[in-house]
Amino acid sequence: MADHPKAFVTGFPIRHSRSPLIHGYWLKKYGLEGTYQAIEIAPEGFTDFVRSLQNNGYTGGNVTIPHKEMAFALCKKRDSAAEDIGAVNTLWFEDGELWGGNTDAYGFLANLDAKDPSWDNGDKALVIGAGGASRAVIYALKQRGFSEIRIVNRTVERAQALKDRFGQGITAHEWQAIPELLQDATFIVNTTSLGMEGKDDLTIDLSFVNANALLTDIVYAPLETPLLKAARAHGLRTVDGLGMLLHQAVPGFQHWFGITPEVTPELRALILADMDRPTHGGQSR
Ligand code: ATR
Repeated sequence: MADHPKAFVTGFPIRHSRSPLIHGYWLKKYGLEGTYQAIEIAPEGFTDFVRSLQNNGYTGGNVTIPHKEMAFALCKKRDSAAEDIGAVNTLWFEDGELWGGNTDAYGFLANLDAKDPSWDNGDKALVIGAGGASRAVIYALKQRGFSEIRIVNRTVERAQALKDRFGQGITAHEWQAIPELLQDATFIVNTTSLGMEGKDDLTIDLSFVNANALLTDIVYAPLETPLLKAARAHGLRTVDGLGMLLHQAVPGFQHWFGITPEVTPELRALILADMDRPTHGGQSR
């Protein structure tokens, strides 16, 4: 074992990951002797990598695309968020056993709580998208007590699959239903990849939107997506998605290094500066 905690983020590819910057910032801020490294592992090597973690002196780490489902299968124990979402993004050891957690839902909620504490006053949510990110968002909204969660997706079958997975209070809708669903939604979230740098914009007609609604986007590159801009122009409250990236890192740091780190304006500025670099590589955990 190393004499200081060693953690990692692994994915394929991994070079654009901002997690080393986030954890490196906290290690320095709290004066801790620890390391956090990006390690690129191809899918065929992932099982061996996970099985040798302890032998290689790792305290734990983060897992990102495309390994989140495989990590789920390899863990001995999982937290309830990981169980319900069906994906693991954080690994750690407890009593010699490998645990897997999912901190995306926590990050999503913590970002909104920090930016607009009244965001969850209503009970009707509109979730646009039905991919992996949507699962964490739906889990989070259920936890927070939203009683009606409407999922709309280009491929409606995927929305239906999530309705079946998450059960009571969830409904699945065709893309064309968006204008109607906007009328009484008090919370609207984009979980699709639309609006990311290099992708098409998510253009929805906001004329029907509930004036009290809050809109958020889990896309954070660009920081203000065209959808957030349009919502702001409509006078809606908006929250950008960068805080979700920062807050989802908190529980992992706590597991590996023993301190609950703070998401500070300085950390946010550090990541924003990195996004401004010409070779920043868009959005990546
Ligand atoms: P992630 O894990 O990041 O959520 P994903 O599982 O590939 O990624 O899901 C991407 C989401 O963006 C899906 O909801 C996808 O819609 P489909 O299920 O119909 O593919 C959505 N998406 C991507 N491109 C889209 C487009 N051009 N128009 C509408 N939705 C799109």
